[in-house]
Amino acid sequence: MVKRPKGTKDHLPAGSPGLSPDAAASAHAHIHRIAAQVLERAGAQFIATPMFEEADLVQRGVGGSTDIVRKEMFTVYYAGEHGGYVLRPEGTAPIVRAYLENGLKQLGAPLKLWTHGPMFRAENVQKGRLRQFHQVDYECLGSSDALADAEAIALMWDIVTALGLKGVSIQLGSIGDPQDRAAYNEYLRGLFTPHLEGLSEDSKDRLTRNPMRILDSKSESDQAIIAELSVRPMLDFLGAEAAAHFEQVRQHLTDWGVPFETDPSIVRGLDYYRRTAWELHHQGIGAKSALGGGGRYDGLAQELGAKDEVPGIGWAFGIERILLAMEDEGLSFPAAVGPALYLAALDDEHVALVAALARQARQVAGADFSFRRRGAGQAFKEADRRGARWAAVIGSNEAAQQRLTLKNLSSGEQVAVPFDGLNIFLKENA
Ligand code: HAM
Repeated sequence: MVKRPKGTKDHLPAGSPGLSPDAAASAHAHIHRIAAQVLERAGAQFIATPMFEEADLVQRGVGGSTDIVRKEMFTVYYAGEHGGYVLRPEGTAPIVRAYLENGLKQLGAPLKLWTHGPMFRAENVQKGRLRQFHQVDYECLGSSDALADAEAIALMWDIVTALGLKGVSIQLGSIGDPQDRAAYNEYLRGLFTPHLEGLSEDSKDRLTRNPMRILDSKSESDQAIIAELSVRPMLDFLGAEAAAHFEQVRQHLTDWGVPFETDPSIVRGLDYYRRTAWELHHQGIGAKSALGGGGRYDGLAQELGAKDEVPGIGWAFGIERILLAMEDEGLSFPAAVGPALYLAALDDEHVALVAALARQARQVAGADFSFRRRGAGQAFKEADRRGARWAAVIGSNEAAQQRLTLKNLSSGEQVAVPFDGLNIFLKENA
């Protein structure tokens, strides 16, 4: 048997054997619905970009020093040749590309966009860490106001609240402006260089490319060195403007009652951030993994070739991780809704009539029918299995009288309804 690739999941209908909550198609749809409601009420519009992009976009956007670009890219080959494309590992660089390429500046500022869809990273697979995973992503383009930062963070909070999650914490930090980050990296270089020998191979490389990334290392020997050195946090290195901006963001969140903890030394896994950066965590998915994260990326558009700066801020949730957190808290999803009506014919002769009635009923409500004749007992059992509210069987009597007897499957109540009154009845009772 051919199997699906490692680190991917099939999204399956409710009731599938062995279904894990992060692979339930209806659970993913539930997250999409809640996100759409919260984000569209805040004025965000849906956007979708291709699953694959120029490798150059991801390299320049996400950054050459990141694990994503160095180790986790899926490159696309066609006709045996490297096509110069990669499967997108995230949504921000593609959305900024689409904004620039399609002249979306004309839609005014700020422009709030959101999307959901699969992302691809060749990671070491474990619970909550997949090679094809799914994000809800929000981007606000064209504003450098601290209100844009605070609103973005608050929208994440509104979504987890709407989902009923209680155990989420927001870890909020700032990685300053580029010159602040350069000063911090200089400080880190000075600090780590005498310990070069003890660092992992990856971190030796990070020391030249981007020393801040050492702080995020998963290597135990690196972490031991970090603990020993009592490293000063990034927040100590913020310039006056970045510090004032950070203070404003925190003030807005406090005013709105959005709880957060200040994380003085946040490191994100992508290179485009400046100033505000944050992550959402939950005990159900482990301390090392985030439920979601985001930040400001005012330099990204120019990195991709734009003449002018386009300030931007945004975030993404991992949908699978949200679902694992919901499972951890015992939260359930709305069960799949069965049809309002289920019909079956008692004999072959009336199957076509049943099909026609069900198709007519669909103008007002969900309606399903049996492709084959069924005995009444069997028909009502099948209607029940499908979660139908009303069911009826049709044979010669019903056909002759042009009416059917609808049975309410939860109360047992029976109602006789003429064929031509079926839709009116369903409108009122579906
Ligand atoms: P990120 O932190 O790389 O940010 O990913 C956001 C979220 O996607 C993570 O917090 C996690 O929930 C989920 N995620 C990432 N990798 C995996 C994986 N291998 N398996 C399962 N879930 C995963 C970004 O992607 C940025 N584009 C967010 C952003 C938008 N920043 C500004 N705008």
